[in-house]
Amino acid sequence: MLGRSAKERLLGQRGCVVWLYGISGSGKSTLANLLERHLHEQGKLTKLLDGDNVRTGLNSGLGFSDDDRRENIRRVGEVARLFVSAGVITICSFITPAKSLRSLARQIIGEDDFLEVYVKCSFEKCAERDVKGLYAKARDGGVKHFTGKDSAFEEPNEADLIIDTEAEPEAESLAKLIALVESRIVGGGDAGE
Ligand code: ADX
Repeated sequence: MLGRSAKERLLGQRGCVVWLYGISGSGKSTLANLLERHLHEQGKLTKLLDGDNVRTGLNSGLGFSDDDRRENIRRVGEVARLFVSAGVITICSFITPAKSLRSLARQIIGEDDFLEVYVKCSFEKCAERDVKGLYAKARDGGVKHFTGKDSAFEEPNEADLIIDTEAEPEAESLAKLIALVESRIVGGGDAGE
């Protein structure tokens, strides 16, 4: 059977998952997109999975209850694992609000292939940015189980990287993220099948 190593050799890279998490509006998608563009320009094959593209397709039947969020993350974890098995650098951008959900993703994907990046920003700042108008809607009672309001977001104790988008400029956040990812993807072909 044609395994992962052969595919990584073909691509000249090592597959991995970069899992960005944080509340809505924290900057996950922006950073995920910038990271993907950078890697693409370096000749790397990537795939970006985020709440917005996955929840309209694969997970269109899921909402925001604890059970549905868990199923959302479980499925995304399994999909990400498949991409990694083909040597693809897979960038996931999901709120992933609970520690148990982050552990679930890590467990499905495997410790060696999983980079956990917390995109940190206060609820107040995200509400001020309110790019999608969701915070205003939530304030008026128009969004059920809104993360940070009536559904909890658990701060991590540890992460491979914490990016504070409230405190640092975008270019600095991106540079940190790129440095972390590049330290993991050089070479390829030596990972397990
Ligand atoms: S997760 O909790 O299951 O990881 P996910 O990242 O897929 O969430 O989806 C979050 C996106 O769904 C947000 O960026 C926002 O656009 C939208 N959304 C809709 N309803 C909610 C809600 N109740 N809480 C948080 N995000 C919501």
